[in-house]
Amino acid sequence: MMELEISNQELSQLADEAIDLAKAYWASLDHRPSYPTTSGEQTAALFSRPWAEEGLGGSVLQDFKLITEHARPSTGRFFGYVAGSGEPIGALGDLLASVLNQNVGAWRSAPAATTIERAVVGWLAEAVGCRGFTGSLCGGGSTANLMGLAMAREAKLPANETGASRCVVYASEQVHMSVPKAVALLGIGRQNLRLLPVDNAFRLRPDALQAAISADRQAGNTPIAIVATAGTVVSGAIDPLGAIADTARNEGLWLHVDGSYGGLAALAEPQKLSGLAHANSLSVDPHKWLYQPIDCGCLLYRDPQVARATFSHTDDYVRILSDEPTEAFAFFEESVELSRRFRALKLWLSLQYHGRMAFREAIVRDLRHARLLADMVSAHPDLELLAPVSLSAVCFRHRARDNHALLKRVIARGHVFLSNATIHGQFALRACFVNHRTTGDDVRAIVSEVVAAADELDG
Ligand SMILES: Cc1ncc(COP(=O)(O)O)c(C=O)c1O
Repeated sequence: MMELEISNQELSQLADEAIDLAKAYWASLDHRPSYPTTSGEQTAALFSRPWAEEGLGGSVLQDFKLITEHARPSTGRFFGYVAGSGEPIGALGDLLASVLNQNVGAWRSAPAATTIERAVVGWLAEAVGCRGFTGSLCGGGSTANLMGLAMAREAKLPANETGASRCVVYASEQVHMSVPKAVALLGIGRQNLRLLPVDNAFRLRPDALQAAISADRQAGNTPIAIVATAGTVVSGAIDPLGAIADTARNEGLWLHVDGSYGGLAALAEPQKLSGLAHANSLSVDPHKWLYQPIDCGCLLYRDPQVARATFSHTDDYVRILSDEPTEAFAFFEESVELSRRFRALKLWLSLQYHGRMAFREAIVRDLRHARLLADMVSAHPDLELLAPVSLSAVCFRHRARDNHALLKRVIARGHVFLSNATIHGQFALRACFVNHRTTGDDVRAIVSEVVAAADELDG
């Protein structure tokens, strides 16, 4: 009979091998293409395999090299989406978190880890100007937005006992797709999410917001929440948080701010993001602009009682026995998850290894890189900037090429990776800088690669 066991010696060998693989991978990043040469057919042939009866034992890591060859590498030349760059100390934190295998659902099941997560959440709140907010880490911005809107609904039109009543939520037409998804999942219904017009800089128009709320009230509808965005996914626009907060206050609505992309830029640009503190709930994503390995979002909120009213569904088998506040604390009473991984360890290690100044400077560099690209695009006769650059997303196009074909060509050349967006109905090339590995030369390579790809399309 095979046993689910491994000797200390073999474990030690495999652990060394795994760390060697990680070290070799990090050392190779500068020489990797910005995107792998691969296809669905190839990855299926390589990796869609049955689970064998017999174990591979000590050769189990043999696939890692192949996986890296068909993976999107975290190089300094990947500019697609809002893709954080996977800071290596954070990766070591993820490894050690899995080794410890804490269930950070409550202090009782993870004393040190729970205390560390509460501390790290406090650091994040303070870093974005929201001292005194509490919250929890989660898988990413989508989950944080879902939890924020669940809290909004429970605060304004409690639904946990009776089911959802009809209500209305407001956001700009530039809102991230996770917000309509959350509205759908919460039973509010996407048709009750008002997607409102934006100004020339893609920011929610407060006058349109006020008009929509008044129209809904007149029609007998029940507004409950406004979602403002601090860093829209397409162009990085920051909604006018102060004016929106005034409306929320006057109208008695919950203000959720989606700062998944831009919130943490407050470390470098506190003035630009000073309105974050108006939020009742705020999403920030350390796996974007704190460069952490993926699986690190955070929901911050002003009033933990609302989080409890929303998420506390306790059962006898998890009943907390201690009266001492630290020991009685349970994240499962303030979030959707019961079993929760030790996400805070990567932040605890990475943020302390480098210190606050290094993260602030890395964000400043990203902002500078975006400015550099925008200036180069503006100065180039064949290129055109399509949106103002508020943070670190730059949307542009080639004036004389099919930009869709051009983007495919740029990616196929393998030197830089850009993604796409639609701006005023036009297909845009989009570069987003949330990458601590990017250098000025990498930014310049975007322009030279786009021009080279355009020449190839020409020929
Ligand atoms: C503004 C905004 N909100 C939410 C999200 C979703 O975040 P996640 O991918 O971590 O779920 C993103 C992702 O890019 C985003 O840019």
